Amino acid sequence: MLGRIAFTAAMMLGLVATANAQDADPAAGKTYAEQVCAQCHAVQAGEDLSSAAGATPFQEVANTPGMTEYALSVWLQSSHPTMPNIVLEQDELRNVIAYIRSLDRTQ
Ligand code: HEC
Repeated sequence: MLGRIAFTAAMMLGLVATANAQDADPAAGKTYAEQVCAQCHAVQAGEDLSSAAGATPFQEVANTPGMTEYALSVWLQSSHPTMPNIVLEQDELRNVIAYIRSLDRTQ
């Protein structure tokens, strides 16, 4: 019984560790954003005009107070009427979030 609990705890720690943004790759996230998100969003640093109406430029997303890694990951894993449901792999998700966070000028 105890062994089972310890195993579950170890599994959960493992999951938390993989979700940790520290090993995310913002450069790969940028490439991904240019390929997938740039259809609608302005994805470059300092760019403030998105191609699709209503799609917030990533610079602005990054500067938004409270737009943390957590908030971004919740947003990107839930569905939105005006944004297609893009299914991101866990590593792509982490990389894109790391890229957006890297644009933050308010820090
Ligand atoms: C087909 C167009 C389209 C694509 C492709 C797209 N988005 Fe969006 N996105 C939108 C629109 C439109 C909104 C505004 C939706 C809303 O506020 O309900 C939005 C909103 C967002 C927001 C929330 C911004 C805010 O200010 O609350 C984030 C974050 C976001 N998109 C990230 C991404 C990422 C990352 C990708 C690429 C993986 C992506 N989007 C691809 C159209 C798109």
